[in-house]
Amino acid sequence: METSKPIIRTSTLNDKLSVKDAHIRSIHQICSKDYTQKQIEAWAQPPYSDDVWERAVNRQLHQVVELDGKIEGFCHSTVHEDGTGEILGLYLTPEVAGLGVGKKMVQQALEYINTFKPRKIVVESTITAKGFYERMGFKLVHEILDHKIRGEIIQCFRMEKMP
Ligand SMILES: CC(C)(COP(=O)(O)OP(=O)(O)OC[C@H]1O[C@@H](n2cnc3c(N)ncnc32)[C@H](O)[C@@H]1OP(=O)(O)O)[C@@H](O)C(=O)NCCC(=O)NCCS
Repeated sequence: METSKPIIRTSTLNDKLSVKDAHIRSIHQICSKDYTQKQIEAWAQPPYSDDVWERAVNRQLHQVVELDGKIEGFCHSTVHEDGTGEILGLYLTPEVAGLGVGKKMVQQALEYINTFKPRKIVVESTITAKGFYERMGFKLVHEILDHKIRGEIIQCFRMEKMP
């Protein structure tokens, strides 16, 4: 039998529920090794309101990765009005993690962001992804100790990269 390959493509408005499902699986199945059960439960809730989702798909860069036709992760990036590029979210499920997909998605996000000639590119990284972003050339700026989701502090790291 042929081995399936993950396919990265631009998201469409119809992908919203599958993106939410992959996001929740990523938090539960990958990030859970670095956070408490209480943190994971507060964090893994529906992430996108309708207008945030429409803006992501229609006016920013939102990509998904599919394996055998099923969405197994996403990457969302944008450039803010002050010229700062940001990776707003990058979540893969265990089905596609560790295969170079995260690297490819970040490279594509950086290509998109760089067309806007950004001042810098930032990300708020999880504990889980910190080593990955360092590998992608991001440097630690500071630890964020007051990032709260539904009352739970989710420890993360402000990281940045020059274009
Ligand atoms: C972090 C994540 C996006 C990485 O994606 P991935 O597809 O597994 O990573 P890749 O296979 O593309 O790895 C690219 C490189 O980074 C390295 N790498 C990956 N994860 C790493 C880690 N945690 N620490 C150090 N290096 C790491 C790989 O070894 C690889 O190195 P190479 O270029 O020498 O081969 C993915 O594991 C994930 O979804 N994690 C859970 C969600 C999360 O925390 N997201 C961050 C939100 S800001």
